[in-house]
Amino acid sequence: MTIEEQYIDGLYEQDSVLERIRQATTAAGMPDIAIADGYGRLLTMLVEMNGVSKALEIGALGGYSGVCIARGLKQGGSLTCLELLPHYAEVAERNVAEAGFADMIQYIVGDAKLSLQQLVERKERYQFFFIDADKEGYPLYLDYALQLAEPGALIVADNILLRGRTVNEQKQGPAVQAVRSFNKQIAADPRLQSTILPGYDGLAIARVKQQS
Ligand code: DHB
Ligand code: MG
Repeated sequence: MTIEEQYIDGLYEQDSVLERIRQATTAAGMPDIAIADGYGRLLTMLVEMNGVSKALEIGALGGYSGVCIARGLKQGGSLTCLELLPHYAEVAERNVAEAGFADMIQYIVGDAKLSLQQLVERKERYQFFFIDADKEGYPLYLDYALQLAEPGALIVADNILLRGRTVNEQKQGPAVQAVRSFNKQIAADPRLQSTILPGYDGLAIARVKQQS
């Protein structure tokens, strides 16, 4: 983290619920890569400001971002989380239950591409998407989010900068290329209004325009 990011995080009182989830996640042997605290606060705000009642998360890790999203949902709202690894989904489920959100969050375990295809076939619709899974999948996840989006839906994605690899021309691996392509689409797709924040590891925020 930069000293500016540390300064800003230092302004906020520690969030004991989220801190506990970070600790329980690493204690379960999972990587310490939950979303930055500042972006977690932003997720809650975006969900709340948009009156979201149905949200979809791709990549659950230990439930940190899930709780941030659930905190902003309308009463009776729900969050569906797609998670590849059964162990991660179990840890996340336990963490969100301890945080008091068990009744709002469901997990679908397995390859997100297959789960997304099933959600499309079931004609599910969502008002908020958070993409934070395998980076090679980002372009496809964006395509699916567009198919599953209600007009006005928000699509948010973490790790747009890949710790600097995105802007390093020496780096040409599949994840880097996929994220560059994702970023170009976020910026240029006429169906989207968007911005990309460069703080922490970069966050894309796009809004699916209403049809005119
Ligand atoms: C890393 C960070 C993330 O937030 C993520 O989703 C995947 C990987 C990382 O820093 O390696
Ligand atoms: Mg991430």
